[in-house]
Amino acid sequence: MHKIELLAKTHDRDGFDCGSEPLNLFLKHTARQHSERGISRTFVLVDEDSPTPKAILGFFSLNICQIKSESLAPLETKKLPRDVSAVRLGRLAIAKACQRQGIGKTLLVAAMGKFMEIFNTAGGIGLFVDAKDQDARRYYEQFGFVSLPSNELELFLPVKTIAEALASGR
Ligand SMILES: CC(C)(COP(=O)(O)OP(=O)(O)OC[C@H]1O[C@@H](n2cnc3c(N)ncnc32)[C@H](O)[C@@H]1OP(=O)(O)O)[C@@H](O)C(=O)NCCC(=O)NCCS
Repeated sequence: MHKIELLAKTHDRDGFDCGSEPLNLFLKHTARQHSERGISRTFVLVDEDSPTPKAILGFFSLNICQIKSESLAPLETKKLPRDVSAVRLGRLAIAKACQRQGIGKTLLVAAMGKFMEIFNTAGGIGLFVDAKDQDARRYYEQFGFVSLPSNELELFLPVKTIAEALASGR
């Protein structure tokens, strides 16, 4: 059975390949250090029954961020202070052998759940993501992410959309 865990030494970071070297290298060399130093947290999807070190089927990273509300579309900016806090989905990647099987969606839903935990504890206007290219932008758009007016590769998913998506179980 699949399980989402905080990245640890028991996971096989070296064996992971999503087809994008910067994302592979982040997982291999940076993710655990960042987790230990409080810069970001990385969560991995593994098969519960796989032997240690467990193969990583996919991962995502989250960090707290500050946003200038003027960077949002006018409708979203309404009544917000100039600086607001949010959560950034810093990375999302699925192992090549496991792509197009719904794992990306599973991890996005998990990231939304983690966002709601943060929202319920400390607030935050939603999830931001930097899409690495136009394909990735289209991928995020199908889940309700909307491009920022100043940069179409930076996208925003407001808390209202996240809460609705989780409530509907879509
Ligand atoms: C992009 C990525 C995260 C998608 O994850 P995935 O598990 O393969 O995708 P899912 O199975 O959740 O896809 C659901 C739907 O999204 C769409 N989709 C999948 N990959 C897509 C892509 N690269 N571009 C646009 N749409 C895509 C498809 O409609 C797919 O449904 P279908 O397979 O029935 O056609 C994954 O392919 C990946 O890790 N790619 C390499 C790294 C990367 O590009 N990361 C994005 C970070 S910026």
